[in-house]
Amino acid sequence: MSINLVTGGVPRGQDYFGRESFIEQLWSRLRTDNVLLLAPRRYGKTGAMFQLLDNPRAPFRPIFINVEPIESASDFMIELLASLRQDDRLAQMTNKLWEGTKNIGKNLKKSTAQIDIGMFKVHLREHTDVQENWALYGEKIIELLEKGQDRPLLMIDEFPIMVHHIAQHNIDELRRLMRWFRSARLTPKAKTRFLLGGSINLMPTLDAIGLIGTVNDLAIEKLGPFDDETAFRFIKTAITSQKMVVGEGVIQHIVDIIGTHVPYLLSVLVTSLFDRQRTKGKPITNEMVDDVFSTELLSRATPFFNHYYRRLQDYYAGDEVRQAKVLLSLLSRAAGPVQRDTLYQEYLRVSGIPHTSDALEKFLWLMQKLENDFYVSLFENKYDFSNRTIKLWWQTNYGYQFV
Ligand SMILES: Nc1ncnc2c1ncn2[C@@H]1O[C@H](COP(=O)(O)OP(=O)(O)OP(=O)(O)O)[C@@H](O)[C@H]1O
Ligand SMILES: [Mg+2]
Repeated sequence: MSINLVTGGVPRGQDYFGRESFIEQLWSRLRTDNVLLLAPRRYGKTGAMFQLLDNPRAPFRPIFINVEPIESASDFMIELLASLRQDDRLAQMTNKLWEGTKNIGKNLKKSTAQIDIGMFKVHLREHTDVQENWALYGEKIIELLEKGQDRPLLMIDEFPIMVHHIAQHNIDELRRLMRWFRSARLTPKAKTRFLLGGSINLMPTLDAIGLIGTVNDLAIEKLGPFDDETAFRFIKTAITSQKMVVGEGVIQHIVDIIGTHVPYLLSVLVTSLFDRQRTKGKPITNEMVDDVFSTELLSRATPFFNHYYRRLQDYYAGDEVRQAKVLLSLLSRAAGPVQRDTLYQEYLRVSGIPHTSDALEKFLWLMQKLENDFYVSLFENKYDFSNRTIKLWWQTNYGYQFV
């Protein structure tokens, strides 16, 4: 078996390594449920969706949509309508929506491949009433899709980010969207299956605005890191694919140094090692691994880690941003897990408030958010970073900044 390491893009085909049993589990789950696929950034969620897209199983017809940039319910509907045009059969089933509309009707005589999806979206926006009546269109789509033999599988990537964006603009609109979406999923005759993907947790956003009930029908599937054995095989396969020879001890050292085996971090480290070996003309050794890990992986510029840092600004409210940074800095400096109470005392100190039941509740809420967003893990009343490499990166770059 030969694979190419992908460092950033979506790995497809054989390059999406391991995960065979997870893909099986997803298919079998989708037979009975709509699914929310959760994992931290860069664990391979989009890659998993592309495995389903590239190797569809009857009766499902998978469609992929990335809704990260979407900020309104009507744009979501336009995206959904446009995405159905990726599949000729599903496109035909929904053509009825446009009977009588001049511009669009004419366009739809063409086959899927000939339609410019970008132009199609512009048409929907400018020449139809989808913007105003998005909910009605939503109902009609589901109704039309129910009539066919096929089962559309709509895979909606970065769904929680879209929900967060809409919540910031218009909570009322989000409320209507989430209710429509829930009823679309639960229609008794519903043929359409949904697979929602995301790396921030949907639940706290929805909980804060009383909408948690609109997603309680979703089955949650969590994608974990590679286990030890898969990480080892992944690196070994990447090395033999390059026709290189590296001792098993060195491979194990790469596995160990990363800590939590995030596929992306393994790919970046091994790719950097390949580059180093080529430029230096020397074999890969444990010393080279240590050096590349600390000089290249832990540098401030690595976008993967920067995301964890910047995301606090984007998704945490007001005082929480600084509180979270201070607590994470404290955790990054600690040799091991830290007692919950030690963190709480630090939280009170940085917030300049005394202990009250309200303060404690807010602290626990913040810690739960950090846990849901994969920054920290809780074990026997102690917290630690959930990922050793992220901990070292935080310590190197910010450990002494937020004190
Ligand atoms: N199974 C895998 N095999 C090989 N590489 C992988 C695998 N899963 C993830 N990766 C690595 O992680 C990167 C991101 O993969 P992917 O886009 O599928 O993850 P994601 O969870 O959707 O990430 P994001 O949260 O950033 O959207 C890839 O470029 C690759 O380096
Ligand atoms: Mg993704």
